[in-house]
Amino acid sequence: MGDRNDLRKEWIALAPAWIRETREGRNAVRKGLLDPIMLEACGDVKGLNVLDCGCGEGRFCRMLAEWGAGHVLGLDLCELMIEAARELKSGRDDYKVQDVQDLGFLEDESFDLAVSYLNQCDLPDFEANTREVFRVLKRGGRFIIANLHPMRSASGKWHRNAEGEKLHVVLDNYFDEGERHWEMLGVRFTNFHRTLSTYINFFIKTGFAVKEIIEPTVTADRLKEYLELDDELRVPNFIVYVLEKP
Ligand SMILES: C[S@@+](CC[C@H](N)C(=O)[O-])C[C@H]1O[C@@H](n2cnc3c(N)ncnc32)[C@H](O)[C@@H]1O
Repeated sequence: MGDRNDLRKEWIALAPAWIRETREGRNAVRKGLLDPIMLEACGDVKGLNVLDCGCGEGRFCRMLAEWGAGHVLGLDLCELMIEAARELKSGRDDYKVQDVQDLGFLEDESFDLAVSYLNQCDLPDFEANTREVFRVLKRGGRFIIANLHPMRSASGKWHRNAEGEKLHVVLDNYFDEGERHWEMLGVRFTNFHRTLSTYINFFIKTGFAVKEIIEPTVTADRLKEYLELDDELRVPNFIVYVLEKP
């Protein structure tokens, strides 16, 4: 298991480039693939009290506030992310430096909706986050989780030919759960791989009803705009779980 302070330091190292890329880059994966699916899965957010676990620099919190959420609380372990999120606060969103594996400061059944947008793969203990979100959600409240697809988090490297063309993704070590090391924006960081059944069985064990599982792929229209999303037609890079507290 990764040391929590070391994991935090990785995000502190990554934050400046992440914030710049999120705010100035094209964000093909977000805008062309995941945002529309996440927003649709969240449904009508008007007036809802929403929790965003691992909110980063706050982009999805701002989107939910724009879509009419009553209030959005964004939590992130990384101070630089939270400072950046506060700079663009809309008035219906608040941010706090917090490890989302411990939500002890939040009251039981106080949120209508919770989201985790590419955060559970960063957690050594996704079970603690799942249990805590279940506790703070009201009955009938949903938990929408976007994550790396377990097929990709297992090892996830493209195998290329001599010309550098992508031939296929190598799937290996699928049942070997635990740390994986990646490089993003020039910074080395740690993720956690778990099998599909580990995630789903724990959601069920916690008490959640699994309402839908979405394996995002790109539509023809969006592919015209974001040519770099052609991988998404070939392999499942991401997965979205729609959970509900009965
Ligand atoms: C891949 S980024 C996604 C950020 C944001 N949800 C988005 O979609 O832009 C993952 C975020 O999770 C945060 N994070 C990692 N471990 C965390 C933890 N234990 N508690 C809270 N946040 C954490 C990181 O600091 C980072 O901002």
